[in-house]
Amino acid sequence: MTDRVGVEPVRVGLVGVGVIAETHLAVLAERPDAELDFTVDPRPAGPVVFRGATPSHYGSLAEALDAHRPDLLVLATPTETHAELTVLALARSKARILVEKPLVHDLASLAGLRDLDGETGVRERVFTAHHFAFSPEVDWAAELIAAHPEWGPVTAVTSAFYDPYVLRGPEAFASYVSSWTDSGVNQLSMLTRFVELTELTSARQLDGGASAWCTVAFRSRGEDGTARLRSSWLTGSSSKESSLVFGRSGVEMWIDHTAMTGFAARGGELVAAFGNDGRTGRKVAHYRPLYASLLSDRPDPVLGFDAAATITAIHLASPAPR
Ligand SMILES: NC(=O)c1ccc[n+]([C@@H]2O[C@H](COP(=O)([O-])OP(=O)(O)OC[C@H]3O[C@@H](n4cnc5c(N)ncnc54)[C@H](O)[C@@H]3O)[C@@H](O)[C@H]2O)c1
Repeated sequence: MTDRVGVEPVRVGLVGVGVIAETHLAVLAERPDAELDFTVDPRPAGPVVFRGATPSHYGSLAEALDAHRPDLLVLATPTETHAELTVLALARSKARILVEKPLVHDLASLAGLRDLDGETGVRERVFTAHHFAFSPEVDWAAELIAAHPEWGPVTAVTSAFYDPYVLRGPEAFASYVSSWTDSGVNQLSMLTRFVELTELTSARQLDGGASAWCTVAFRSRGEDGTARLRSSWLTGSSSKESSLVFGRSGVEMWIDHTAMTGFAARGGELVAAFGNDGRTGRKVAHYRPLYASLLSDRPDPVLGFDAAATITAIHLASPAPR
C-alpha cells in the first residue's frame, strides 16, 4: 500500500445506504487514509454514524455535489441506477468513482460510458467493486495454480452461487435485477483470476429471473475450456462454491466461497488445502483488500474500466443458438 504519511485523507461520499453500504462503512472506518464526507439516499433512514460522528446527509447525489468536493464517490445503489449515477458523478465532480458490481445493467449503458471517456476520463476515474476477485480462497487458488504449471490447463469449471433472496420478494428484483445479473458478474470476475474468459456460449434465465444456467468459454494455458455457471435465489441460505478441473493432470480444486476455504486433490491424494482463522466476516474479507488496492498507487486491473467492459460484454451478451 502507498505510504500516505502527511497526505490528506481521501474524502468519500457514499451514495446508497442499504445492505452493502454497511460493509463499505466498516472497511472505510478502519482506514486512516479515508474519511466519510457525506451520505446520500432518498429513503428516510436512520443517521449514519461514522467514527462516532454523523456526516451530512442528502436526498440526491446532485444536491450533495452542490455542497461537496469528494475525492471518491462510492455508488452502492440498486443495480439499475449505476449507469445514470456514474454519468452524473463524472459530469458534476472530479472524484474517482467506485461503482458496486455490476457496473451497468445493459450494453447501451456501457457504450454510453465508453463514449464519455475522452471528455471525462472514464478510464482513469471509474472503478467497479468486483469484490469476489479479492476473496481469500480465490487468492489462494490463483497463487496455487500459478505455482503449478505442471497441472496443465483448467479444462472445466462448475460454479454454483445461491442467495436467499426469495425471502426478499420483489425487493430483490428491484435491487439486483435477476440472479444472473447479480451473481453472474461475481462468478465471471472471480473466474478472471484463473482463466481468460472468451464468450458466453449459452444463457437460460429460469424461475422468472430468480435462477440461471449459463455456460462460458475460456482459454487456459493455450487450451479451450467451458465453465458451467448456476445461480439461484430459491433457497433460505447463502451457499457459493466452485470447482476447477485440470483434465490433463487429474487435479481437481474445490473452493467454497461461503466458508472461504479450498482444497486441491488428485485421485485419493490431498494436494493442498486452505482455511482461515474464522475471525473475519465474508464481506469484510472481500472489501478490505479491495479498498487497499483501490487506494494504492496501482489499483488492481480487475477494478478498472477495461476489465468491467470485458466482463460486461460477456455477462450481458445474447448468445446465438447453437
Ligand atoms: N447486498 C450485498 O451483499 C451486495 C454485495 C455486493 C454488491 N452489492 C451490490 O450493491 C448494490 C446495492 O445493493 P444493496 O444490497 O445494498 O441494496 P439495497 O436495496 O439494500 O440498498 C440500496 C440503497 O440505495 C438507495 N438508493 C436508491 N436509489 C438511489 C439514488 N438514486 N441515490 C442514492 N441512493 C439510492 C436505496 O434507498 C437503498 O437504501 C447492488 O448493485 C448490488 O448488486 C450488494
